[in-house]
Amino acid sequence: MRLLIADDNASLRKQLKRYFEMRGHQVETARDGVEAWHQLRRHEPDVVLCDVVMPHMTGHELARTVRRNPATENIPVVLFSSHPESALTSGRDYADDILTKPLDLDILEVRLVSMLKRIAEGREPTPQIQGQVTAVTSAKGGTGVSTIAANLALALAMHPDRSVVAVDLDLEYGDLPMLLDVPPRGGTDQLIRSLVLDGDGCAPEDFFARHDSGLRILGAPRDPVDALHIDETGVNHLLARMRALHDHVVVDVPPGFGDPALTTLTTAQRVVVVVVPEVTALRRTLTLLDILRSLEVDEGKLLLVYNQTVASDQLTRERVEGFLGHRIPLEIAHDLELFHRATTTGRPVVQLDPLHPASRDLTRLAELVATPY
Ligand SMILES: Nc1ncnc2c1ncn2[C@@H]1O[C@H](COP(=O)(O)OP(=O)(O)OP(=O)(O)O)[C@@H](O)[C@H]1O
Ligand SMILES: [Mg+2]
Repeated sequence: MRLLIADDNASLRKQLKRYFEMRGHQVETARDGVEAWHQLRRHEPDVVLCDVVMPHMTGHELARTVRRNPATENIPVVLFSSHPESALTSGRDYADDILTKPLDLDILEVRLVSMLKRIAEGREPTPQIQGQVTAVTSAKGGTGVSTIAANLALALAMHPDRSVVAVDLDLEYGDLPMLLDVPPRGGTDQLIRSLVLDGDGCAPEDFFARHDSGLRILGAPRDPVDALHIDETGVNHLLARMRALHDHVVVDVPPGFGDPALTTLTTAQRVVVVVVPEVTALRRTLTLLDILRSLEVDEGKLLLVYNQTVASDQLTRERVEGFLGHRIPLEIAHDLELFHRATTTGRPVVQLDPLHPASRDLTRLAELVATPY
């Protein structure tokens, strides 16, 4: 068999290489997850053996990337760790086997050979997983969609084992990179073009800006004119690939019924509708809910959020629920000063002041989004 062995410990790497080569197998090695990923694309091994704790990209991240890339999804990954508890809890979904160090090499070889035999006979499909797309939208501009999308994505990304990407579909005025204080990199238009032209050869990672938390951000096109070429097929391609690669894809969908917005709202697994206590916004929300219904967006996917960009004594959450005929499970506290400071510092409120009531509300939103309905 052709093996790829990734471990940052040089002596273990050498020992494994020597052992397997003496038994007639071909072995490539890598010092960390990133190097392993490059080797893997070049050599297409039968199986990847990989340490969990490695610099740059951990074994978990590597396994997830392998599993979620169409070009590599069928290559089995075996993780090994001296801390089996953590490897077990989070590796179960995407690793084909999990072993504890120290490794017994004779047993390891037998396990690998029999695993490859079972896979070849079709008895053991490699695990497949799909992430969740959550669209955040509203019927009117200025209601806090981008603010909520940024905080939601960040709150989701604070979970150590989750990979999260925030996608800015406000193609003309995208604010996400600014709200998260990251320099924009390649935009939505460029990634879509690469996905269409290069297919499996496209490396989405090159297009993301990275936040300190690990959150990835795909910004809007640099030139709004480029947004005009983005159509339904492109957005479908984009969301399918993002979902294959990441646990959560949070999309900022500004008001309007253009192709990119409608495609996202109809394909998302969750749709957060932001509602503010203001009469014209409420009337428009009725229209938006009607349209979503006519597009057969499952009611269960909808999650209405009452956001107090303006504080209102009259239009309370209960009254708005009555007017819309729809339950609103969550409300976000009003605080002009805090949200203003968040925008000017590029630090979303969940990061700026995690104990503030508005941050707790936004963290609760992340919990609701991550819970199956
Ligand atoms: N709960 C809140 N309390 C106070 N201010 C808020 C709250 N939520 C959002 N804001 C403020 O409301 C303004 C609009 O927010 P944001 O830009 O996120 O909305 P948007 O719907 O994305 O707007 P646009 O249509 O321009 O894209 C911002 O100044 C933001 O700081
Ligand atoms: Mg916005």
